[in-house]
Amino acid sequence: MRLEQKVVIITGAGSGIGAATAKLFGSHGANVIASDINLENAKNVAEKINASGGRAQAVQSDVTNYEQVERLIADAVTEHGRLDVMVNNAGIGGKHQLKTADHTHDDWHNVIAVNQTGVFYCMKVGIAQMLKQGYGSMVNVASLAGLKASGNNLSYSASKFAVVGMTKSAALEYGRKNIRINAVCPGFTHSALLDQLLSVSPDMGDKLKRFIPMGRFGEAEEIAEAICWLASENSKFITGQTITLDGGTSL
Ligand SMILES: NC(=O)c1ccc[n+]([C@@H]2O[C@H](COP(=O)([O-])OP(=O)(O)OC[C@H]3O[C@@H](n4cnc5c(N)ncnc54)[C@H](O)[C@@H]3O)[C@@H](O)[C@H]2O)c1
Repeated sequence: MRLEQKVVIITGAGSGIGAATAKLFGSHGANVIASDINLENAKNVAEKINASGGRAQAVQSDVTNYEQVERLIADAVTEHGRLDVMVNNAGIGGKHQLKTADHTHDDWHNVIAVNQTGVFYCMKVGIAQMLKQGYGSMVNVASLAGLKASGNNLSYSASKFAVVGMTKSAALEYGRKNIRINAVCPGFTHSALLDQLLSVSPDMGDKLKRFIPMGRFGEAEEIAEAICWLASENSKFITGQTITLDGGTSL
């Protein structure tokens, strides 16, 4: 993949899919800005990339805070002169597995703030920079829950359908500006977020696997491969698309 020297910001890079993506970009020679609300975790990821010969820095940034998103991107541009790739990955699940009538206000507001408004902030500021430089590639991390119904977590479902919609609408707006915007839609993938869902009941893992034709959960590294490919010039005629990585669950 042609990612050498690319300046790449990844949100939520301290854990799971974001961490695997940061490491993969690093292994391809990109300048990685690993941002996360959890600075310690982001630092660990950046250190691992640097220790294996890559180039990375850790930045604390909360995607729900517009000023912090502006600063994240402005600092990257001040230091590197441009922003080639932005991966909007930071996301959370709802704390409670409840049906719609019982869904809590807290879960609704928290999940929408990170998964939907956070992606909007990153798209707004990131695309403004890409317009200035005349090109760019953005990858949003949506979910299978953004393509199909998923019970007991309405805010998560709403936020991920929104990410798919924002991806397609913005791609339509900026196709002629040389800015591509795509999304990945992972199914159940090993990460802290999946662990939270598995902790709901001891048989949750087996229950979920019954719906996966390949019979296993995904690995964060498998999602990272698609993110890097979508971000790279290897996929340069693709925009406004979603790639589903779910072991066949959507079938
Ligand atoms: N794991 C799955 O099964 C799965 C499936 C579909 C989609 N996804 C999506 O993948 C993305 C990554 O999730 P993951 O599974 O790697 O989970 P994870 O919990 O391992 O990683 C999420 C990261 O986002 C960070 N984060 C949370 N709130 C933030 C904020 N306000 N600002 C900045 N960073 C913040 C966390 O600190 C964490 O490092 C999410 O958008 C998630 O919805 C995950």
